[in-house]
Amino acid sequence: MRAYQILPGDNIDGLQCVDATQRELANGEVRIRVHAVSLNYRDLMVASGNYLVNVDNPIVPCSDGAGEVLAVGHGVTRVQVGDRVAASFFPYWQDGRTSPSKIRHALGGDIDGMLAEEVVLHEDALAKIPPQLSHVEACTMPCAGVTAWNAIFESSNGIRPGDTVLLLGTGGVSVLGLQLAQAAGLRTIITSSSDEKLERAQALGAHHTINYRSMPEWQDEVLRVTHGMGADVVLEVGGQGTVGRSVAAAAMGGSVAIIGGVSGFGGEINPVTLLGGAKRLVGIFVGSRLMLEQVMRFAATSGIKPVVDRVFHFDQAKEAYRYMESGAHFGKVVISMTA
Ligand SMILES: NC(=O)c1ccc[n+]([C@@H]2O[C@H](COP(=O)([O-])OP(=O)(O)OC[C@H]3O[C@@H](n4cnc5c(N)ncnc54)[C@H](OP(=O)(O)O)[C@@H]3O)[C@@H](O)[C@H]2O)c1
Repeated sequence: MRAYQILPGDNIDGLQCVDATQRELANGEVRIRVHAVSLNYRDLMVASGNYLVNVDNPIVPCSDGAGEVLAVGHGVTRVQVGDRVAASFFPYWQDGRTSPSKIRHALGGDIDGMLAEEVVLHEDALAKIPPQLSHVEACTMPCAGVTAWNAIFESSNGIRPGDTVLLLGTGGVSVLGLQLAQAAGLRTIITSSSDEKLERAQALGAHHTINYRSMPEWQDEVLRVTHGMGADVVLEVGGQGTVGRSVAAAAMGGSVAIIGGVSGFGGEINPVTLLGGAKRLVGIFVGSRLMLEQVMRFAATSGIKPVVDRVFHFDQAKEAYRYMESGAHFGKVVISMTA
């Protein structure tokens, strides 16, 4: 079986496709034939060496994969041969609040991930895929889907139908967040550097769209379209360049989910802006396997089809990474073993 490997910091050119032999299954382990893998901004960070991981040897990259159970080891009860499964970003975080031990390892970070024809994982790391989702759709869920789910429904300050969610940019987390929020009856505002991407967001049902290039003070526009109220939840993926504006755009009593830093990490927030508006900053670190099960169940029952911008073949992994790096995508970029 073939697998990609990369030494963090070796850049996209350092991705190597190698022949690997799979080990025997230990108790509780499951062998999976991977059908599809989705890329996250984090995979670019691992490649460029900007993701904090302590590894000296090449790892199989990518956290997000979906596939089919080929074999089960002794004692496995949660899945059986033929089941379709997605892997949880943190294999040891099954449910509940997080803890250092639950997030001690992450797929495609400090341990081998999913960009391989076959992987072996413990059964506890797996969530069954509902029949409504294809492998390509399901593989968008473990990082981007769970992160958006966690920010909107788990870690916000009690979101209710009709409340407003603000999404920054049109990458994987934000577009899945848009789709989840729309399906839950929430009001949505989304920003982008591209009018064409904003048109696509509008076609998905976004209530308001803002071009953050032509309108650099976009937080004022968020306040204008919400009649001064602001957004009840903000999915803050911008970091340094956006976090202050995100706080300004948040409603009194609302939450700013601190997720990412596509414009760099850092930025300053005046604590008075939080105090005066009783606003909350909430750090989000993907989520648990239970959240993965919940977001896939919600996608299935509400008919969400995660937006997949492009599907590349397994042999084109470097091209897929480069496309993701170009920022041309809207939603998710997927690598399929069968496309
Ligand atoms: N904490 C966590 O658990 C967690 C989980 C997932 C992701 N993340 C982080 O979240 C961020 C997004 O991840 P992703 O995988 O969704 O990335 P992605 O698919 O690569 O999307 C990045 C998008 O960000 C937008 N963008 C770039 N600069 C921006 C700016 N100054 N203001 C607003 N939007 C801007 C662009 O949208 P337009 O092209 O529309 O302008 C771009 O397409 C990354 O920093 C990632 O590391 C964190």
